[in-house]
Amino acid sequence: MKLKYTVLLSAICLWGTCGYGIQLSAQNVPSLKGAVGDRFLTGVALNVNQTAGHDTCALRLVKRHFNSIVAENCMKSAEIHPEENRYDFADADKLVRFGEENGMAVIGHCLVWHSQLPRWFCVDEKGKKVSPEILKERMKKHIHTVVGRYKGRIKGWDVVNEAIEGDGSWRKSPYYEILGEEFIPLAFQYAHEADPDAELYYNDYGMDGQAKRNKVVELVRMLKGRGLRIDAVGMQGHMGLDYPQIEDFEASILNFASAGVKVMVTEWDMSALPTIHTGANISETVAYKKSFNPYPEGLPDSVSQAWNNRMKEFFDLFLKHSDVITRVTAWGVTDDDSWKNNFPVLGRVDYPLLFDRHYEPKPFVKELIENNSEK
Ligand code: G3I
Repeated sequence: MKLKYTVLLSAICLWGTCGYGIQLSAQNVPSLKGAVGDRFLTGVALNVNQTAGHDTCALRLVKRHFNSIVAENCMKSAEIHPEENRYDFADADKLVRFGEENGMAVIGHCLVWHSQLPRWFCVDEKGKKVSPEILKERMKKHIHTVVGRYKGRIKGWDVVNEAIEGDGSWRKSPYYEILGEEFIPLAFQYAHEADPDAELYYNDYGMDGQAKRNKVVELVRMLKGRGLRIDAVGMQGHMGLDYPQIEDFEASILNFASAGVKVMVTEWDMSALPTIHTGANISETVAYKKSFNPYPEGLPDSVSQAWNNRMKEFFDLFLKHSDVITRVTAWGVTDDDSWKNNFPVLGRVDYPLLFDRHYEPKPFVKELIENNSEK
């Protein structure tokens, strides 16, 4: 169904009627990136359907409104390094090329993550955990190969993703079980060796929580204390209508900045549906119930209004701290692309992103553009 929908939309797009019609081809049309200006990069995550050029409406929208892109999935180790002696760079190459052709800052996501980790990475041929030395070698090879391939072409990398639990403890990932927390400085060291000019980031969700915030500050200080490069902390920014509290999110921005790094909002979305849980750990799914999918045909005006108001509140916060915030990235182009349609419940209809299923900007985005476009 989705593929047919995409093909149909692509056909329509060829006639230049992607939502706001044919003026898209005009230069200097009012845009989100134009409204934000040089306060911070305006980013978006692309899926492989888009980087393959199939979703032409999405690509026209991205060119108009965004000046930074990141791979939603195609640079994750399970996708880019499926077997120890086989890499698959096809999708990642297309994404980097699209970014270069359109003058965009390309972000690499992500080098070390417990999820989407290929089965072979941390075990030997018998399925037993490998030694610390073997894992170090495999991490070094993976990072040197992937980062080295795009040396000078990628602005920055999510070097380590989601290594800290909500209570501030280390996540007991296979990396941690074999190397302890040492896997983190090693990952940053290997990434810097492969591309000394690339920015390096630690990225996580739930960063408004005090325990995780404090642990991340400790991590930043440890890395800096060892003379390792870390430029910024990525606050993923997966939100709902009732979480996080904006003052907690702001406190984290200020704490990370005080640790001497920049801050980025790296995976921003806001579910418009009743909150089931506030996590973003992809394994924490919940079985479908009709009550979990209350708005399959569209949001009631009251919910849409509340969602737009809350999104504007957070965007105003980002603008307020644009001295430390260097990038705000939406985790998908339109609502139809969002992982939130299938997480934490498979098969529901959510409305979490900046553009709707007709490629139209949401009201708060429209207002931002109108209020900030050259008169
Ligand atoms: O590519 C396969 C396809 O061949 C297959 O037919 C299909 C059905 O099984 O699966 C496809 O892979 C899926 C992939 O997305 C691409 O659509 C994986 O199963 C699915 O697990 C994967 O989900 C991604 C998830 O990370 C896990 O990697 C989401 O799209 C992506 O939005 C989400 O993003 C993460 C960030 O990377 C890190 N922060 C949390 C965020 C949300 O979990």
